[in-house]
Amino acid sequence: MNLGFIGCGTIASAVVRGLAGRGHRITLSERSRTHSAALAAEFKEVSVASNQGVLDASDVVFLGLMAEAAEEILGGLEFREGQQVVSFMAGAGLGRISDLAAPARAAAVMIPFPGIAQGGSPVMALGDIELLERIFAPQNTVFALKDDAELEAYLCAQAVLSPVTRMVGDAAQWLGDRVSDGAQGEDFLRMLIATSLQASGCSDLIEALNTPGGFNQRLRLHMETAGMSDELAAGLDRLKQG
Ligand SMILES: NC(=O)c1ccc[n+]([C@@H]2O[C@H](COP(=O)([O-])OP(=O)(O)OC[C@H]3O[C@@H](n4cnc5c(N)ncnc54)[C@H](OP(=O)(O)O)[C@@H]3O)[C@@H](O)[C@H]2O)c1
Repeated sequence: MNLGFIGCGTIASAVVRGLAGRGHRITLSERSRTHSAALAAEFKEVSVASNQGVLDASDVVFLGLMAEAAEEILGGLEFREGQQVVSFMAGAGLGRISDLAAPARAAAVMIPFPGIAQGGSPVMALGDIELLERIFAPQNTVFALKDDAELEAYLCAQAVLSPVTRMVGDAAQWLGDRVSDGAQGEDFLRMLIATSLQASGCSDLIEALNTPGGFNQRLRLHMETAGMSDELAAGLDRLKQG
């Protein structure tokens, strides 16, 4: 496919890395110049053009801009009928994308994560899921959402990644103070948690880790008594309130 990117920052660069080598022709807007120039130098199917040049070369256009800057940047450009537009912009629903990219079709809003560069990453998406799966599956998994409210709830809940990472990092630090190779300890914990959660639903895993008096049960109960679950719910509610 002919794929184009307007805005080539952190997340667009990760998406381009994930798509490179899969038979697409990819055109990037110049900005961010450091990213776009490096990607074009690394992958032969990637080239750089002006913003209008990206639109002219692409059947599917990805918007990797900050939402507040999009109107000004896209205002002077000519999209065309039959073109499909996919936005990464959190905070801009399909209706807004449709206004910004007319007469092109606002196909989808998708929220990727930096892991899409390597594949195996979840993608939250609203709109034309079939189009996104054609482009990103099976290397990644597209999670179809129903409407803007669901997208907002997912955006809040995915923020659990940072506190979870903090907990694993703190446990690794604790372990590192007690073993000869702290880096190995962190690798072990990351692999343990990633593979366990990948293999099993949360309730099943908690049940499997619920041996009476076992270390896992004791630590979870200690954390719950200290308010972990209540604080998490309060934090998520706070994100939802804005
Ligand atoms: N980062 C994430 O993990 C993530 C995940 C999902 C969704 N998103 C969403 O993706 C969007 C981009 O986020 P980001 O983290 O990738 O931000 P970012 O790195 O700041 O990317 C924004 C890009 O817009 C470019 N830009 C600014 N003015 C432009 C213009 N006139 N023409 C073309 N490009 C222009 C910037 O270029 P310069 O650097 O040259 O100014 C930069 O490359 C946001 O709406 C965010 O909500 C981000």
